[in-house]
Amino acid sequence: MRLFRLILLSLVILSLVVPAAFAAGNAEKGKALFNDPKLGTNGNTCGSCHPNGKGLEKAGDMSKKEWNTPSGKEKSLEDAINICITAALKGKALEKKSQQMHDMVAYIHSLGKAPMKHSAGY
Ligand code: HEC
Repeated sequence: MRLFRLILLSLVILSLVVPAAFAAGNAEKGKALFNDPKLGTNGNTCGSCHPNGKGLEKAGDMSKKEWNTPSGKEKSLEDAINICITAALKGKALEKKSQQMHDMVAYIHSLGKAPMKHSAGY
């Protein structure tokens, strides 16, 4: 039955697309989180030490293998973020697969990108 196959195919596609959509981070929300003292307990925000993400422009580089944190080297951006949350903000580490972590990662990735320029003809 063609209709049945069509529905089945749609379901397969949906099951692939929907998790990807949820996993995608929102850089705007990540930025808000970055400047939210509620992420920690000592009144600091990420922006207290990295104002507007300054100094983190390369932290989202795809080729990066090691991150420097206040308490040593880490092997992933997520781990580096969590060290800063627990050590510098006295907060609770984010679940790596959580939406908040995805948002934070998206914001940090956005720091490495040059501000949008309008090229000729655009
Ligand atoms: C008390 C100051 C302080 C606060 C607050 C802080 N950090 Fe950091 N962070 C540091 C220091 C110091 C380093 C190490 C920098 C270095 O040695 O290059 C660092 C390193 C990092 C790195 C790795 C940089 C790299 O490219 O290797 C990331 C990512 C990062 N911080 C994210 C955050 C996030 C996200 C927050 C908020 C949850 C935060 N930081 C809050 C001080 C802070």
